[in-house]
Amino acid sequence: MTVVPASAEPRPDSGGAAVPRHVAIIMDGNGRWAKARGLPRAAGHKAGAEAARKVLRAAGEAGVECLTLYAFSSENWRRPETEINDLKGLLRFYIQSELDALHKEGIRLKIIGDHSAFGPELCKMVDHAVSRTAANTRMTLAIALNYGSRVELVNAARNLAEKVASGDLDPADIDEAKLDEALDTRELPPLDLLIRTSGECRLSNFLLWQAAYAELLFVETLWPDFGGNELRAALAEFAARERRYGGL
Ligand code: IPE
Ligand code: IPE
Ligand code: MG
Repeated sequence: MTVVPASAEPRPDSGGAAVPRHVAIIMDGNGRWAKARGLPRAAGHKAGAEAARKVLRAAGEAGVECLTLYAFSSENWRRPETEINDLKGLLRFYIQSELDALHKEGIRLKIIGDHSAFGPELCKMVDHAVSRTAANTRMTLAIALNYGSRVELVNAARNLAEKVASGDLDPADIDEAKLDEALDTRELPPLDLLIRTSGECRLSNFLLWQAAYAELLFVETLWPDFGGNELRAALAEFAARERRYGGL
């Protein structure tokens, strides 16, 4: 008899691996970085986008299979409209200027969250970037746009409930794997390492389910100051951790 659910067992594909398959980052501290320099917050976001470019390259070189970046949370709509517009503009610029390079480097772009809220023009641009890079296999870059873990879980619950209502799913068959498949992250590898910059030690509604057995790393560095060296230091820290999944 087994008393341990299958999902609590070590995952041989990532459990003991020195290089995490999937790294997610809460890119925080852009505003404080700008403030410390007497610059507008938008300058911090622009510097943050540069950091994302460097970290993506370093992650690819290190052999990370998937990098997920929290770019805009479902709670970030609480910010002033001017800042939201700055962030949208930056996203538009980033996609326009980076798409060719991403594609050439074999990077597949994925979006988690509901980016339709950013309006039809931006939404179309994002969809185009996702479909253009869909067949790439070297690495996956997942960007969390208008993403919130609780909304994601609510949507997953609704999705499963609809299948039950239509007779396509027996409630007794709902298990961890079924819920996993109903999440935005369904095509991404299991989350191994979750990093948050800027000294804040909270998840801010990011990947709550997926982080169940991820290694968490909170660093003081503000996101615009985070680069290849900081990522490599984080990967070294991950390699030194022992993951137990409830076992011994
Ligand atoms: C993170 O930096 C970027 C986004 C949330 C879009 P912040 O803008 O939160 O920067 P701080 O936390 O105010 O320094
Ligand atoms: C989390 O950072 C969201 C992103 C990095 C996109 P926030 O700065 O929005 O989080 P809180 O408000 O400090 O929790
Ligand atoms: Mg912040």
